[in-house]
Amino acid sequence: KEIHIFSPGTVSNVSCGFDVLGFCLETVGDQMIVRTSPEKGIRITKIEGFDLPFETNKNVAGVSAQALIDDLKPDVGFEIEIYKHIKPGSGIGSSSASAAGSVSAINELMGKPYNKTQLTQFAMKGEAVASQSEHADNLAPAIFGGFTLVKSLSPLEILKLPVPDDLYATIIHPQIEIKTAEARAILPKTVSMQQAIVQWSNVGSLVHALHTEDYELLKRSLHDAIIEPYRSQLIPHFNEIKKVTLECGALGTGISGSGPSIFALSKGESTAKAVEQAMRKVYENTTIDFQTYVSKVNHDGIKII
Ligand code: HSE
Repeated sequence: KEIHIFSPGTVSNVSCGFDVLGFCLETVGDQMIVRTSPEKGIRITKIEGFDLPFETNKNVAGVSAQALIDDLKPDVGFEIEIYKHIKPGSGIGSSSASAAGSVSAINELMGKPYNKTQLTQFAMKGEAVASQSEHADNLAPAIFGGFTLVKSLSPLEILKLPVPDDLYATIIHPQIEIKTAEARAILPKTVSMQQAIVQWSNVGSLVHALHTEDYELLKRSLHDAIIEPYRSQLIPHFNEIKKVTLECGALGTGISGSGPSIFALSKGESTAKAVEQAMRKVYENTTIDFQTYVSKVNHDGIKII
């Protein structure tokens, strides 16, 4: 038996929701083929796109798949082929796509013994290999689709939030390296009461805006008073990109995950494409290599193809 899946890229944090909010992309992602084999255990048999380890215990897809079979103890083994399109270290959930993809595919092959929260729990073991910390804000949107809020890590509780129909993301990925661990190390250990009040008011109003399809309120909620001032210094021309994209009609612009990618959300594809052109213009005048994407915000997460 074999299954082909599309495992999507994701944007975590979404400005005000550091470590808790995330959303799923429709057209940016990896493909994976997972098949059962008589030989027990997990084997990564093919990786295309980027140079990643084949050893099961060093590969995020392998580690998360192993966590699942350690629990399920199936009579068969699994071979995994990974066709990566999301560059590792881009800030759009490359490791999460691999970790979420392998466990979701095995779950399908075995007749769905686990729910999405349990799959996220296994995938967190793989994600921890890549980022040295267990977090689920990229895994949850990849597995559940749409917007998600990680209500708690222990016990793991994920809330799936509604997605307004006309919401598009634009991403620009400058090809520089920012390690998640370093982007976390530069953050302050405490925040002021005043900053906290602004932040939780924005998280609350963002969630309300998604429920009520209120794009105007969404626009007024996509702010980050705490993390962005520190991390934006690591991303070349961040402030300029933010300025030109907002001038173009983006609802909000921020850092995707721990960077270096920058995301913007827009109402409608034509605005999202105008935002893409504005982003490109900023880097076209520099020596920075970059890639851009425009994608609808996806509703369903990992897809069988
Ligand atoms: N929420 C995490 C961070 C995501 O911003 O550090 C890392 O991919």
